[in-house]
Amino acid sequence: MKEKILVVDDEKVILQLTSMILRNKGFDVVTAESGQEGLEVLAREPVPLVLLDYMMPVMDGMTALRHIKERYPATYVIMFTGKGSEEIAVELMKAGASDYVLKPFKNQDLLDRIENVLLIRRIELHNQELRAEIEKWNQELEQRVAEKSAELERAQMEIIQAEKLAAFGHLSAGMAHEIRNPLNSISLFAQILHSGLADNAELREYPEKIIKEVDRIDGILRKLLNASKRPHLELSGVDLAEEIRRALDLFEAQIRLQGVEVETDIAPHVPLIQADSHEISQIFNNLIVNALYEMPHGGRLRIVLRHDAQFIHIDLSDSGRGIPKENLYRVFDPFFTTKERGTGLGLSVVLRIIKGYGGRINVESGEGQGTTFHIQLPLMPS
Ligand SMILES: Nc1ncnc2c1ncn2[C@@H]1O[C@H](COP(=O)(O)OP(=O)(O)OP(=O)(O)O)[C@@H](O)[C@H]1O
Ligand SMILES: [Mg+2]
Repeated sequence: MKEKILVVDDEKVILQLTSMILRNKGFDVVTAESGQEGLEVLAREPVPLVLLDYMMPVMDGMTALRHIKERYPATYVIMFTGKGSEEIAVELMKAGASDYVLKPFKNQDLLDRIENVLLIRRIELHNQELRAEIEKWNQELEQRVAEKSAELERAQMEIIQAEKLAAFGHLSAGMAHEIRNPLNSISLFAQILHSGLADNAELREYPEKIIKEVDRIDGILRKLLNASKRPHLELSGVDLAEEIRRALDLFEAQIRLQGVEVETDIAPHVPLIQADSHEISQIFNNLIVNALYEMPHGGRLRIVLRHDAQFIHIDLSDSGRGIPKENLYRVFDPFFTTKERGTGLGLSVVLRIIKGYGGRINVESGEGQGTTFHIQLPLMPS
């Protein structure tokens, strides 16, 4: 069966004549006596080709042509025009007609043009399909490149993190020990001075200050040691949901005081993991301290816990100021801090602990967009 052709002409004789010629050639022909009627036919069924008369009452051929090309771009149109109207023909072609035939026409000429336009139509539609397919491939390719690049970047970040962690571990454990001994002596001598100055209230203040500052240094060293090496671990089955609740309880007063809203989304039946519960609580404590610090005048703290076949996933988000892009890769660095009295060890400790269990942590944040830490812990320790 050949393609369907719609013939639109207000002259019945022309309609009959053309239909006959076309049917003889095996085309499936539908006819319409006005532009309006032609459009109704097209609304009912798709038609690849329309033969459209230019001179028609009510809706002229040009208007009908514009409607057709606008609504049915895959329908091609050949116009019938009267002799002496070549200029109009140019306008018709500009408006989207594929060809025009001057009336009266020779049968063979009409058929040649129809075959020709139908051929062009097939090629153009096929090209469009190919272009759409290529476009789709391009998009898929771009998407895959983006995914792979992100994966690569993550992997590189992890390597860098691991290297930093190892170097930092060695250095800080050694340094902390070395510093702690002379620090002890300083503290001891300061205490002796302090007791010797029992009757000099003014001077007594100085050894007191020394002792206080020495304590501060000792606190930092303790954190440093904590961040760099795994202390003796006591493994047991740890319920993360329980740990999250406990951590939130610990900060309850501060949360209330700052007007922070807490939202938890804790999936039921998350399996226990073999871990040291003290270490796990440090993860939550350090992350929550940081989050609350960023929301002094209220905000939202959200903790999500879920699991799949291999991992436990924890997301901890705050609606605080967020981390500027240039700091994003530095927050896990030991001693990186933007706080006046921060030591910059909180996240190093978190990272060290998570790595210790074969897990991962990454951060997603933008200035003014809050911050989310994503943690992934393997269900089976590797
Ligand atoms: N939730 C957060 N929102 C915005 N910035 C954060 C957040 N958590 C961490 N940061 C940034 O990362 C830095 C490092 O955090 P980290 O916890 O390691 O150290 P710290 O909080 O500065 O000091 P501390 O040793 O007392 O924890 C912070 O100073 C801060 O700039
Ligand atoms: Mg911190």
